Amino acid sequence: LPYEKPRDIAYSFDGPFGKWDHAQLQRGLKVYDEVCSACHSLKYVAFRDLAQLGYSEGQVKAYAAAKQVPGIDPNTGEATMRPGLPTDYFPSPYPNAVAAAAANNNAIPPDLSLMTKARGDGTNYVASLLMGYQEPSAELLEEHPEAAPGPGLYHNPYFPNLNLAMAPPLSTAGQVTYDDGTEATIEQMSEDVAAFLTWTAEPTMVKRKQTGWPVLIFLLFATILAYLSKKQIWAAVK
Ligand code: HEM
Repeated sequence: LPYEKPRDIAYSFDGPFGKWDHAQLQRGLKVYDEVCSACHSLKYVAFRDLAQLGYSEGQVKAYAAAKQVPGIDPNTGEATMRPGLPTDYFPSPYPNAVAAAAANNNAIPPDLSLMTKARGDGTNYVASLLMGYQEPSAELLEEHPEAAPGPGLYHNPYFPNLNLAMAPPLSTAGQVTYDDGTEATIEQMSEDVAAFLTWTAEPTMVKRKQTGWPVLIFLLFATILAYLSKKQIWAAVK
């Protein structure tokens, strides 16, 4: 079936000089927190990792403490929920896969930690998917009647199957109120959460890019040095 390539969106972390935009990552966290976390886990991210987005130790502690994570009652030894600590990982919204499937028309919402790596052009894909929900066009249905969304499915040209079990999670502007006053259009929220999920998938990306430059400079220097010594060593041989 014909599906769309993701849109090409400009991000601060693109290219060899790319840098995280911490304000954008904080906005993206808010979108994940208030919208996506109702269904999607983020199991490879610990609350303490949020310090990298520019939050203070106190803010991280308060953020963690406001979440309930699975724990053990010290008196009875039974499984219970307790407030999170900075060392805890983001909790899953469902106790297990059966409950996740039951709540979502039999489709399990995938963990989002590595989603931007799991899909080609992942950052653009996630953003495009979130803002791409639309009715299937008449031409599409004429050519591919099987592309009509079945019960409990939603049409989205960026999803390779064209229909997915996730209802449009970002459907109204202002769904999230940004602390930095940025206007929360659907486009803005989609791009911000896609940027945040790029950070969760590779928090060291900017460091990796920055490390490349001294490496290249060193290699260039070593090449020049090798060339000069070669000339020196062979100088007497005519
Ligand atoms: C699938 C992102 C909110 C339920 C997905 C996928 C992504 C995603 C990237 C995978 C698409 C793929 O496989 O290529 C997000 C983001 C959200 C969000 C960024 C917040 C802005 C939600 C919410 C729900 C939900 C609130 C539940 C009400 C699902 C389900 C699937 C899914 C059931 C599996 C769909 C399928 O495979 O047919 N989501 N999601 N999502 N999401 Fe979400």
